[in-house]
Amino acid sequence: MVDARSLVSVDQFDGPARSEIVRLVRLLAKSDRIEAPLRGYRVAGLFLEPSTRTRLAFEVAIRGLGGEFSLLDFATSSLAKGESYPDTLGVLEMLGFDCVVVRSRESGIALQLLGWTGLSVINAGDGAREHPTQALADVLVLAERWGCSIADEKPFRGRVIAIVGDVAHSRVARSVGRLAGELGARVFTVAPRGWSVSPGVLHADSLEFNTLDDVLGEVDVVYSLRIQRERFGGLDSLDERHFLEGFQINRDRLALLRRDAVVMHPGPVNRGVEVSDAVADDPRFLAKAQVAMGRIARSAVVMWVSGRSVDGR
Ligand code: NCD
Repeated sequence: MVDARSLVSVDQFDGPARSEIVRLVRLLAKSDRIEAPLRGYRVAGLFLEPSTRTRLAFEVAIRGLGGEFSLLDFATSSLAKGESYPDTLGVLEMLGFDCVVVRSRESGIALQLLGWTGLSVINAGDGAREHPTQALADVLVLAERWGCSIADEKPFRGRVIAIVGDVAHSRVARSVGRLAGELGARVFTVAPRGWSVSPGVLHADSLEFNTLDDVLGEVDVVYSLRIQRERFGGLDSLDERHFLEGFQINRDRLALLRRDAVVMHPGPVNRGVEVSDAVADDPRFLAKAQVAMGRIARSAVVMWVSGRSVDGR
């Protein structure tokens, strides 16, 4: 069990946590009233894998709330000289850090760090396991669009989300699928054979690739994923032509969607692979809204983890 001062998994977003986060998101939206609630709060960004939007969103969020953010990557830290994680965390403790935001290719690293330090830990993506702040941002985007609140009981009931593409290697799929399912949505995964996850992992219904076009007319969201080659194991291989035919979200597939349905993607997008150029520039493609909400979601999460108050409560 992880305490509320760290965020490792979307499973921590139970009813009370979601209510608190929604309260924080509303308060943070009125940013003109907020007086640096994270003043003196020190966060180390331990980014051991490439990241643009997650890293910058945390940095902008923390600095915007008056906190401090220091980036520590692998190549320029003493981890590259063989220092262990526990010893690295010990250095952060001695220097007065309060929190570590960790991104790593190692599944389970966030939970492991918690065993080695008293600092708060926030999971910014661990291997193929979880990416809880991305999932939070995404469900907040959908709730805003659908005029509901994630603080309510099953607000996504009746909605259908199809997660499409390289599901097997995707931490985003696991976190988004679980959280959207918890909120009442029906979640499909549509993946190449052998590239899905067992239904229990996401509480999702898995479909084969040739069913994508059949289901497009019934879904509210197509959630497209990048091919995450850096997480391929020795046995994984990909027939790119088969992938494009079966899974690329292109103009023809966009035309099969209902008019109110949207396409989401956590970024980074490989244009011409999982989504075509035309779709990437279409107003129904919500990746930009996801980035913008990513900052707000991360502001709320850091406030939640810090235990500090925005409004004197
Ligand atoms: C993803 C990630 O790195 O987990 N991007 C993100 O953080 N928004 C998705 C990916 O790598 O494809």
